[in-house]
Amino acid sequence: MTSIMTEANQGLLDRIPQQPVPEDLAEDYATTGYPFTRDAKMKMRNVNVFYGEKQAIYNVSMDISKKEVLAMIGPSGCGKSTFLRSLNRMNDTVEGCRVEGDFSLDSDNIYDPKMDVIELRARVGMVFQKPNPFPKSIYDNVAYGPKLLGVYNHRSELDELITVSLQRAGLWDEVKDRLHQPGTGLSGGQQQRLCIARCIAVSPEVILMDEPCSALDPIATARIEELIGELAENYTIAIVTHSMQQAARVSNRTAYFHLGKLIEINDTNKVFTAPEHELTEAYITGRFG
Ligand SMILES: Nc1ncnc2c1ncn2[C@@H]1O[C@H](COP(=O)(O)OP(=O)(O)OP(=O)(O)O)[C@@H](O)[C@H]1O
Ligand SMILES: [Mg+2]
Repeated sequence: MTSIMTEANQGLLDRIPQQPVPEDLAEDYATTGYPFTRDAKMKMRNVNVFYGEKQAIYNVSMDISKKEVLAMIGPSGCGKSTFLRSLNRMNDTVEGCRVEGDFSLDSDNIYDPKMDVIELRARVGMVFQKPNPFPKSIYDNVAYGPKLLGVYNHRSELDELITVSLQRAGLWDEVKDRLHQPGTGLSGGQQQRLCIARCIAVSPEVILMDEPCSALDPIATARIEELIGELAENYTIAIVTHSMQQAARVSNRTAYFHLGKLIEINDTNKVFTAPEHELTEAYITGRFG
């Protein structure tokens, strides 16, 4: 696919930051780069998302490949969280939000009315910007999903699952002697790793992360980034980030969103060294955002 840079787009670039896309411009956009992959874990086609009358995502089509780390970047309000939440139907819980388009996870239709949403959100787990441990013990935070889904037979199996999840989240050594103390008593970085352990405990296939490090200090951030690298061996990961350095460090492909459109999706190196689209270039060189 090649870039379609019309005069109308150019006009938009000059007016940035932040104008809603006029209806008549909406058709002038096309995604530059490689939105589709040969080994797709998730496929999204012609996705539109609305909040009431207001459209937040415009005709996005793309794949997320098996075991890739996909970074999603773009100026505030461009629809990154909206798009991410549509992948595991978290938008179902947002009042007034309407999602259109085709979404599949392997061969399953994510928006099939028969889809069990609890099961879906176990398969496509989510880690949020602000660590949100439940007001329960460290152990019970991680045990929550397995208990809900009933995926173990004996207490010893559950114990093992908790241990392994905390180990994979890189938190075990720090909490093994205080498993029954409140999760909320941990540091911010530890809480975020606890949330990752909680997500992993139900064996997700995909992990969605919405700015998982934005509330963390540089050391905790480095720890999470290292963890993302390790998790990518087993899971497919899509991460929204405002840090271009972070996107460059952790991801294989990067998707650049702008005013609800997917402008460019390419190999991460390419996006940061030789972006194809003018809007991507303007963003990564700090001209806006
Ligand atoms: N619950 C909501 N109700 C109405 N409009 C919303 C809602 N959530 C988001 N929006 C609007 O949808 C658009 C996309 O928002 P979204 O939160 O997805 O952007 P974002 O790229 O994640 O931004 P940020 O980087 O600031 O997190 C924005 O115009 C926003 O105001
Ligand atoms: Mg957001």
